[in-house]
Amino acid sequence: PVGAPDKALARKVTMVGVIGAGLMASQFALLFVRKLQVPVLITDLDQARVDKGLAYIGDEIDKLAAKGRIDSDTANKLRGLIHGTTDKSEYADCDFVIEAVFEEVGVKQQVFGEIEQIIAEDAILATNTSSLSVAEIGSKLAHPERLIGFHFFNPVAVMPLIEIVATPQSTDAALSTAFVVARGLGKSAVRTADAPGFVVNRLLAGVMGEAARALYEGTPLLTVEKAFAPLGLPMTPFQLIDLVGWKVAAHVQDTMAHAFPDRFFASANFHELADLPQVVEKDKNGRVTGWTKAAQKVLKGAVGT
Ligand code: 3HC
Repeated sequence: PVGAPDKALARKVTMVGVIGAGLMASQFALLFVRKLQVPVLITDLDQARVDKGLAYIGDEIDKLAAKGRIDSDTANKLRGLIHGTTDKSEYADCDFVIEAVFEEVGVKQQVFGEIEQIIAEDAILATNTSSLSVAEIGSKLAHPERLIGFHFFNPVAVMPLIEIVATPQSTDAALSTAFVVARGLGKSAVRTADAPGFVVNRLLAGVMGEAARALYEGTPLLTVEKAFAPLGLPMTPFQLIDLVGWKVAAHVQDTMAHAFPDRFFASANFHELADLPQVVEKDKNGRVTGWTKAAQKVLKGAVGT
């Protein structure tokens, strides 16, 4: 894939729809209101999930105000631009609708199938999938040409990159809109092939998989953490897994292992760890100091501590 088409082809975005109100979706919903200053609609399966997302966004706006990054008028304006609901019919007015629902092709296809009935003919659909095929996600759409991959990184507010993924069917208007939106969000954007893990997660899954493999071979957790220092990464592997979430990390790892079994190490029982409220213990600087007792039990002595 080569760069961005003419930005004159981009659709003007006057309202953004965010499907899902989990941590990733809430983070980028906030970024959309802050940077594009347009109304943002956020939905989820039930009101409790929507309220949780809205509470997170409200807290982050409070933090920005407390740090003096925004004044109180702006804080109020941002709060007013975010609207949470379970009523999907409200997506009718959105020009750019992005999903961050469960990382399962069937779930994403179903969600987009519903949304496609509601949105305007020329609205753009985007998926924040981290490792699934964008073409496959769009394959059940009546108009797959308007779907684009738009992959954020955690923490969304500070990670400078967005991976943009066009399928063979994506229109230049969809692609151009994605680049213009990314620029509006203050991010740099790269266009990658629609290949499992795109580029960033493929690199990360290599690193994470080897960290996990080292554990299973018997190297203690803290040794693995220390061994990453020479790479100069801002976070150690287990800090990073904790940041993105064990469930997400395990899913990315398994998707890579499934796509390239000879090259990637599956997450083994990391899925079980994902159900624990806390997996690693950390010191006050956020450094990993060991496994929690519950995690050790799950790992059943399979790894060093
Ligand atoms: N949400 C919002 N803002 C955050 C944040 C969060 N979760 N974490 C940190 N920040 C902000 C801080 O508020 C601070 O902003 P300020 O300068 O305005 O006060 C700024 O980031 C720097 O934070 P700190 O000074 O506290 O900490 P560090 O300098 O140690 O940086 C970090 C923290 C930016 C998270 C850094 O450790 C880092 O870059 N880590 C790597 C993260 C990474 O690799 N992410 C990619 C994950 S893969 C992924 O998301 C793909 C998915 O598909 C799996």
